[in-house]
Amino acid sequence: MNAGIIGIGRYLPEKVVTNLDLEKMMDTSDEWIRTRTGIEERRIAADDIDTSDMAYFAAVKALENARISAAELDLILVATVTPDRPFPSVACMLQERLGATKAAALDISAACAGFMYGMVTAKQFIESGTYRYILVIGAEKLSKIVNWEDRNTAVLFGDGAGAVVMGPVSEGRGIVSFELGADGTGGKHLYQDEYVVMNGREVFKFAVRQMGESCIHVLEKAGLSKQDVDFLVPHQANIRIVEAARQRLELPEDKMSATVRKYGNTSAASIPISIVEELEAGKIKDDDLIIMVGFGGGLTWGAIALRWGR
Ligand code: UT7
Repeated sequence: MNAGIIGIGRYLPEKVVTNLDLEKMMDTSDEWIRTRTGIEERRIAADDIDTSDMAYFAAVKALENARISAAELDLILVATVTPDRPFPSVACMLQERLGATKAAALDISAACAGFMYGMVTAKQFIESGTYRYILVIGAEKLSKIVNWEDRNTAVLFGDGAGAVVMGPVSEGRGIVSFELGADGTGGKHLYQDEYVVMNGREVFKFAVRQMGESCIHVLEKAGLSKQDVDFLVPHQANIRIVEAARQRLELPEDKMSATVRKYGNTSAASIPISIVEELEAGKIKDDDLIIMVGFGGGLTWGAIALRWGR
């Protein structure tokens, strides 16, 4: 039995905050933000929309897309570093709101790599035959933990949510290989006290190295080569970081998602948000081999090679 994605959905807040808007709030410039990060604008959630709301909106779409009901879900996993509150978990809040009466529920804390951790966890339950349908969500309201007076971090992040329903898929499709990892010694480079604190240069160096390595590792584990990759969906942290991963895989520009331009870094939500974008653009098709790869605070990382389709 292979576990794969059988439905997907996303939610992005309506409010667009451009670099020009940020210029009015802090000592920064559109030019600096574009050249150093690739970001042109990001979405920021309204005061009365929290992480669980965004997760819910994305989940409803994913369930519709999967053509299953919430009552059929066996497990809900929500990757987030911005839960509404420490407990109950966002996953439990969704369990009630969706009416997923038989589902177990928990949040996953692996920062920007959280969605990769969630998908790999779901795969284990599905392929062992323990559970059939699992909702995996990446949802973040980073705007509530960003210090809007710190230009080093405030310009980078955005809010949003992406959800997938995972379940058994046809032979040859679904997750073909994965890698997860962590290095707690790097925890000091990216963490939250009251606000997000980051040593940008250290995280940058780690990200460039780890994203490339993890892409190569999942290909090796699957017995595949760079030439087999149809599309790359990296965690959308910074255009320079994702470009390095693309070059490592020797892929042309149009074979990688670069939604960081429009949505900034939405942490655990960025990979599923980007997959929806590329599906809608016709860039991901059935039987394509896609590589997803993420890294984040912890430090954590994760990559998945997946043959698209139900
Ligand atoms: O999901 C994981 C989350 N984190 C990341 O992915 C972040 C990884 N790191 C990065 O993306 C980059 O390191 C940054 C985009 C954060 C920074 O780019 P950089 O090329 O590493 O710049 P830097 O930190 O070396 O700063 C260069 C200069 C500094 O000025 P001085 O000291 O050279 O005078 C900063 O103070 O740019 C300054 N600076 C800014 N200037 C205008 C930093 N932030 C800004 C800003 N606007 N927003």
